Amino acid sequence: MATIFSGIQPSGVITLGNYLGALKHFVDLQHDNDCYFCVVNQHAITVYQDPAELRKNTRSLAALYLAVGLDPEKATLFIQSEVPAHTQLSWILQCNAYIGELERMTQFKDKIKNKNEGIPGGLLVYPCLMAADILLYNTDFVPVGNDQKQHLELTRNLAQRFNQKYGDVFKVPEIRTPKVGARIMSLQEPTKKMSKSDENNASFITMLDSEKEIIKKIKRAQTDSDASVHYDIENKAGISNLMTIYSTCTGKSFEEIQSLYEGKGYGHFKGDLATIVADTIRPIQERYEQLYNSTELDEILATGAAKANLKANEMLHKVEKAIGFDR
Ligand code: TYM
Repeated sequence: MATIFSGIQPSGVITLGNYLGALKHFVDLQHDNDCYFCVVNQHAITVYQDPAELRKNTRSLAALYLAVGLDPEKATLFIQSEVPAHTQLSWILQCNAYIGELERMTQFKDKIKNKNEGIPGGLLVYPCLMAADILLYNTDFVPVGNDQKQHLELTRNLAQRFNQKYGDVFKVPEIRTPKVGARIMSLQEPTKKMSKSDENNASFITMLDSEKEIIKKIKRAQTDSDASVHYDIENKAGISNLMTIYSTCTGKSFEEIQSLYEGKGYGHFKGDLATIVADTIRPIQERYEQLYNSTELDEILATGAAKANLKANEMLHKVEKAIGFDR
């Protein structure tokens, strides 16, 4: 049985991109693996979060994890700040990471673009906290979208570097990205990743959008003037992105989608896609509504934190012993 770890930030309502690139796959993985899924609220505060919003988004994300089909009997679901070993190991890893390699992270570079002052230190050391998340659980593989590849590479480097210095302590984890859907793009600027922090609300679909909003956003999604439903990422980024969403929601290949819409134009395709996405999200929202205010959710999170603390502390003690923190 392999051990799996993944996390999602509660920095807003999660998007269809988070679902198709990550969350959806967690559900399949829980059956044959020992899974740990985390609401990474400590990562979220690298950018200011209004406390009331953060509290709400944290609970909302936990409810969504369950609403998509995670079974708390099978997978361990918990909130990062309730397991102190994450920040404890993060410090140790920061002491083994180089400023140069942290500064090379593209997400760091993107986030500090056009900012000359007031850059929080947490933004730079963020990948060390992510490495700690993963390494604490003896993780075999990490299911994520494409944008996390560089962070995973750094995690592997940090694990190997630590093992060379202090002995064989960490398992070196593998990344798992889905074949289709690993990078869902913005509906308005399809050369940019769909992101929950995008200022343009029309560029992403959230898992809590109403059916009306979903239909409107898909109909308004940017496409080219050629009007043939054809996958061509270079020249037809908009329609290719919509076809990716279609394919991940239905399991149909690009060839099948192409022949289904041969000679039918974008209007017809977009109408069908809006129904498909709304039908995918509706049952998730129904379960979400039941879970959000339930005491069951708190019980699941408390049990999850207890389990995660047990496992994480075991690794933390091993690390502390290896570096000479024991008496
Ligand atoms: P976050 O919160 O930005 O995204 C959560 C997951 O969703 C994936 N994702 C996407 N997939 C496809 N298309 C998109 N447009 C898209 N946008 C996001 C992400 O790749 C990710 O899998 N640093 C991480 C959270 C994290 C983590 C971890 C992940 C913290 N610790 C340990 C794995 C293991 C992040 O910010 O993800």
